[in-house]
Amino acid sequence: GPATVAAGSHAIHPSGGEVSTGERARGKGHKACVIWLTGLSGAGKSTIARLAERKLYSDGIDAYVLDGDTLRMGLCSDLGFTEADRHENVRRAAEVAKILAQTGQVVLVALISPLRADRALARKIIGEEFEEVFIDTSLATCEERDSKGLYRAAREGKIENFTGISAPYEAPEKPDLHIAADKGDAGQNATKLTDYILSKVR
Ligand code: PPS
Repeated sequence: GPATVAAGSHAIHPSGGEVSTGERARGKGHKACVIWLTGLSGAGKSTIARLAERKLYSDGIDAYVLDGDTLRMGLCSDLGFTEADRHENVRRAAEVAKILAQTGQVVLVALISPLRADRALARKIIGEEFEEVFIDTSLATCEERDSKGLYRAAREGKIENFTGISAPYEAPEKPDLHIAADKGDAGQNATKLTDYILSKVR
């Protein structure tokens, strides 16, 4: 039936909505999930996520990337890089990813999300659709690449709380998928990620 929205009350459908997740999955021809990519700055999270997004979309999968840099320009523009702000950043991203997954999408979240406790919170918010993927590029490689010049700035003390230099990165102990990204090109790593996602959503 029609949604019930009573003025001045909270009598809105509390969750899930009128159209069930199963119905949406049948409509789209695939299941929804949230693929959570964690790794150091410059590890290749966004690059791999975007290549996978393209491959999946070409294969008829409604995939969409939510990445830290983009979120921080809008929804999270009030947040910095203290532990409290990163915690809030992860929490908001998880809530948005959850909503997008309820629409039936395959959501690829690319956030450093350096703390285990914060990633555990994301898993708790999202539920069984959550898959943790570790984009494992060593600090040495990220610093060597230094594509944005941030590691150098962090070493010179021009950026505070920089992950891997002056703020912690807690690697996942048992990620659902581990991508050793020090070697091998982004295309190969994206193929590995895409194949994993296809095995989960088809
Ligand atoms: S977090 O830890 O999950 O809240 O970070 P995230 O939202 O993914 O943002 C990471 C990008 O912000 C830039 N940046 C920093 N990263 C780490 N530490 C500090 N202090 C910092 N300051 C700015 C950096 O470009 C990160 O981009 P990526 O894409 O990860 O390289």
